[in-house]
Amino acid sequence: MSERASEPSAQEDQGETLPELATPPEEVVAELAEDMRDAPTTATGARGPILESAGVSMVFGGLRALNEVTFSLKEGEIIGLIGPNGAGKTTFFNCLTGLYTPTSGAVTLRGRPMPQDPARVTEAGVARTFQNIRLFPSMTATENVLVGRHVRMKQGPISSLLHGPRFRRSEAEALDRAEKLLAFVGLSRFSDELARNLPYGDQRRLEIARALATDPSVLLLDEPTAGMNAQETEATRQLIFAIRDLGVSVVVIEHDTKFIFTLCDRVLVLVQGELLVEGSPDEVRGDPRVVEAYLGAPPDEVEAQLQTGAGPASDPAAGPASDPAASPASDAVESES
Ligand SMILES: Nc1ncnc2c1ncn2[C@@H]1O[C@H](COP(=O)(O)OP(=O)(O)OP(=O)(O)O)[C@@H](O)[C@H]1O
Ligand SMILES: [Mg+2]
Repeated sequence: MSERASEPSAQEDQGETLPELATPPEEVVAELAEDMRDAPTTATGARGPILESAGVSMVFGGLRALNEVTFSLKEGEIIGLIGPNGAGKTTFFNCLTGLYTPTSGAVTLRGRPMPQDPARVTEAGVARTFQNIRLFPSMTATENVLVGRHVRMKQGPISSLLHGPRFRRSEAEALDRAEKLLAFVGLSRFSDELARNLPYGDQRRLEIARALATDPSVLLLDEPTAGMNAQETEATRQLIFAIRDLGVSVVVIEHDTKFIFTLCDRVLVLVQGELLVEGSPDEVRGDPRVVEAYLGAPPDEVEAQLQTGAGPASDPAAGPASDPAASPASDAVESES
């Protein structure tokens, strides 16, 4: 654990704290932690491996997008996954979450085979966000979070039809949780706003709230800061620490190496579908193979990039311009490549 969620963020240091963009409020964190402790998927505190892949390969026609990727996420860990465009990062998430069936290899959650169905993966306790944001654009922020919450709502058909007391209690609890989650990600003021009207960075935070509504024990974030400014990026870093402190283990794909190196306990570098290097941020930052193979620029130039935290020079996907989700929530896409 490199840092606590309660530490002041850079923007607070500069006296520029935006309303609701700082560290999640302590009372909301405490209440959420209490609520999530009762979830069936909750962390056991064993600190052993929770999500693992063994020799996962994914072949599309003649293209080997992933080659024998083996990894292990421990409870309470934040792992960063970096690599150039097309390295296979999103494909790996798709294999972990049942969207793709790996050509070979195995994915396990607490030692059990991962279901090959995204809905059942969510039920088992693995939630994710998407590189291309997937919200329901014509639903409010609250309604989007409620969609995530429905995974955990157990209703008998009769109670649902009659809107009986159990149904009403369950709906009230879901609404209460949605409100807490919106406060947690700093979006309370947008609770009744349509998702499509939210600023781009806030849509990404809303997607995180919806993912958290499913009571995950593992959260996979695909480029959570793409298109965000420096303040939003810092707030997202603090948010991920707070998510980890709720007992959720996290894997983050990101091109912004400064973000990754200051957030993660361990960093994995994927190059052309292969896990090239794995280690602490310091080990990865200083590894000559990363410098040579990952960024593909003269070593001194690459070293300077890694030190300053700039992304790869050839990184057109780091901002919204190359991301279809850049136009607000008009894109609840059905497939992710
Ligand atoms: N459904 C698919 N069908 C065919 N090829 C695919 C599919 N999904 C991914 N690929 C290919 O697999 C490779 C890895 O793509 P992937 O999207 O996983 O890379 P990435 O590391 O996430 O890149 P980026 O940083 O640009 O998001 C690419 O060559 C991509 O074109
Ligand atoms: Mg990707």
